[in-house]
Amino acid sequence: MKTIEDLGDLRGRRVLVRSDLNVPLDGQTITDDGRVRASLPTIKRLSDAGARVLVVAHLGRPKGTPDPAYTLKPVAERLAELLGSPVLFANDTVGAEAQRIASAMQDGQVAILENVRFNAGETSKDDDERGAFADQLAALADAFVSDGFGVVHRKQASVYDVAARLPAAVGSLVQAEVEVLERLTSSPERPYVVVLGGSKVSDKLGVIDSLIEKADSLLIGGGMVFTFLAAQGHEVGSSLLEDDQLDVVKGYIEQAAAKDVDLVLPTDIVVAPEFAADAPPTTVAADSMPSDQMGLDIGPDSAAAFADVVRSAHTVFWNGPMGVFEMDAFAVGTKAVAQALTEIDGLSVVGGGDSAAAVRQLGFADDDFGHISTGGGASLEYLEGKTLPGLAVLEGDSP
Ligand code: 3PG
Repeated sequence: MKTIEDLGDLRGRRVLVRSDLNVPLDGQTITDDGRVRASLPTIKRLSDAGARVLVVAHLGRPKGTPDPAYTLKPVAERLAELLGSPVLFANDTVGAEAQRIASAMQDGQVAILENVRFNAGETSKDDDERGAFADQLAALADAFVSDGFGVVHRKQASVYDVAARLPAAVGSLVQAEVEVLERLTSSPERPYVVVLGGSKVSDKLGVIDSLIEKADSLLIGGGMVFTFLAAQGHEVGSSLLEDDQLDVVKGYIEQAAAKDVDLVLPTDIVVAPEFAADAPPTTVAADSMPSDQMGLDIGPDSAAAFADVVRSAHTVFWNGPMGVFEMDAFAVGTKAVAQALTEIDGLSVVGGGDSAAAVRQLGFADDDFGHISTGGGASLEYLEGKTLPGLAVLEGDSP
């Protein structure tokens, strides 16, 4: 893969950078700016080299037309604050304003193009439609840098097609992410513990398939655990349950036993009558949940047991909260696991999305962990061993 150095002297050249600036927003307020901060080093480096930097990114999942709820404007403002210098904002992605800015900007200036997913060509499954949009993106710039790790698993115009149309290089964020994930897949120092949570087991099937072969212990919490408990024949009340995955999950339980992988499920659960911050919490044994309650966190015994397993590891990968961490009464399990990750003697990796937001919201600092990935889906697909289009295209010869 070519790196930014391989692009040569960048002074005066227009460089299109694909960043992942898909941050959580409360109205117009960014609630976790981790992805903006993680994107800064590459943007700054290009700007310092005298490039005219055009940042292309998405926010949310708009339907291929402009939608003010998903404008990147607040993100552009945050980027300017963090860079300490103005950031130009184009209110379209490849239209008249983007073209005007691209041709008028000065060496070292940074501009953000409006949400790339306001254009149907970005996410189209039709290669020609995507290609036509990629042509328009490529026409804005002289070179492309792929730095949006959170989207490298997407075969989309600004990630994949544009890289084949311009001299293309990998940015330092993608490089750093790939290096860490490579350590997890090729030669993890043992014991290697994987902690999985989050709401749906169906989102994690591929990664369980792959990691059940590699990890020494697999700890399961979050909403997905209730499908495991139900697969063992336990009552799960009104908890999240994916009935259609029960057989698959039974298969994992058998596979783990056959391969001598320590599959650890919670022994106690914090339940409440409803999904609400002020719902009265009760701790019950995992094998006797009341039928009229829902599980919202792993219980304190389980949190302590999970933390012990994590602390004894030399490599830990964690994806997905253990409970509804946004509500204080159901944040204890997630906090215990996060705390244990900060104490390990080895490599701790927090895998993107909700888990990254959780550790920050619970008051941990980024450098308490070995690595916080910016990509939830992308890091899972990497660990599954899938080919990620945004990386594969950079392996080929770019023009
Ligand atoms: C993410 O939030 O994981 C990335 O920004 C990718 O977003 P997407 O799942 O909407 O493609």
